[in-house]
Formats: sequence, structure tokens, C-alpha cells
Amino acid sequence: MSTPANRDQRLELCRGDITRCRVDAIVNAANQTLLGGGGVDGAIHRAAGPELLAECRRLQGCRTGEAKITRGYRLPASYVIHTVGPVWHGGNQGEKELLQACYRHSLLLAAEHRLTSIAFPAISTGVYRFPPSLAAELALEAVRDTLPRTPTITRVIFVCFNAETYRIYERLLADCR
Ligand code: APR
Repeated sequence: MSTPANRDQRLELCRGDITRCRVDAIVNAANQTLLGGGGVDGAIHRAAGPELLAECRRLQGCRTGEAKITRGYRLPASYVIHTVGPVWHGGNQGEKELLQACYRHSLLLAAEHRLTSIAFPAISTGVYRFPPSLAAELALEAVRDTLPRTPTITRVIFVCFNAETYRIYERLLADCR
């Protein structure tokens, strides 16, 4: 269940499994091969079925900070936007800019395809070890900075798989009422 929150009614927060989100696009926290993995990447590929991997093979990978789109196949979401977050190395190797680029490029790609709703996981905060609070601040800043350029997008949902991430986003979104 999403709870509209904070000053920008287009931003929503929910706790759960992004593969169950019925939106135009869900965002996958992928790796540069786009050939699947663990975490949310693994969950999305399992739920979408083998056709997703077949289409991903044709994309020939994705650079960190960039985004590519595929169909959603057996997912309730119509599309998957695959983006590759940075691995955290302490914060002095451009990780912050690259993480914000993931959110910016995913929104711009969704708008290019005239999509109106998009759900994000907490990119890079699992296997890639990006500090969750900093990641959430950067994510919200990047989304808020990009939304004026993507007027067709009316719903941005931050899907938190664990309680810690949910609490972080809940506090940040509440701070902006
Ligand atoms: N729905 C929503 N969020 C999820 C789900 C899910 N089903 N499964 C995991 N998450 C959350 C994690 O709890 C974490 O908060 O997604 C966030 C990102 O974690 P990862 O999936 O580990 O992604 P990331 O840290 O970006 O690392 C990417 O991991 O799975 C591999 O192939 C992937 O190499 C890539 C790397």
C-alpha cells in the first residue's frame, strides 16, 4: 500500500516487493552486464520470466549511472528500467553523482516512453554497500530536481524492502511537509 507523502504529492513511499508493483515501470538495480544477479535484480528476473533475460542479452550491457528499458513480461509492471548503481568505495570516486544519475536517467527514459508511474528500489544500498541514509537523500534530491523536466510522470514510488530503508525515507519525506 503506497502512502502519498510530503509536499510533492507525486512522491509516494511503500514497503514491500517491487516485483508486485502495478505501475508503468519498475526500476531494476542491475549490474553492467544486465544479465541478472541477486537482490532486486534476481527477484525481477525471477518474476518476469526468461523473456526478460533474452531481451537484456540484446541490450549489450549498461554503464554505471545509465539506464535502459525493456518490457516487463510476466511482471504486473509494463516495463523494467534497468539502471546500474555505483559500488560504494568511501564516497570519493564519484559515487554520489553516479547514484543521482541513475535516478535522473531512469526518469528521463520513462518520460521518453510517455510513462506516468515509476517505482524505484533503494539503488546501490544492498550488495553495492552505499550508505542507505545518504543514498535516500541523494535519490530524493535527484528525483525532485528531475521531475520538472518530466511532466508526464505523475507517480514516483520509493519501494523499501526492509524496515530500516522505509524509516529513512519516511523521515526524509516527512521533513518536507
Ligand atoms: N523489492 C524491492 N527492493 C528490494 C527487493 C525487492 N524484491 N530485493 C532487494 N531489494 C532492496 C535491497 O534490500 C536494497 O535496499 O533493493 C536494494 C538494493 O539492493 P541490491 O538488490 O543488492 O542492489 P545493489 O545494492 O544496487 O547491488 C546491485 O547486486 O543483485 C546484484 O546484479 C545485481 O550486481 C548487482 C548488484
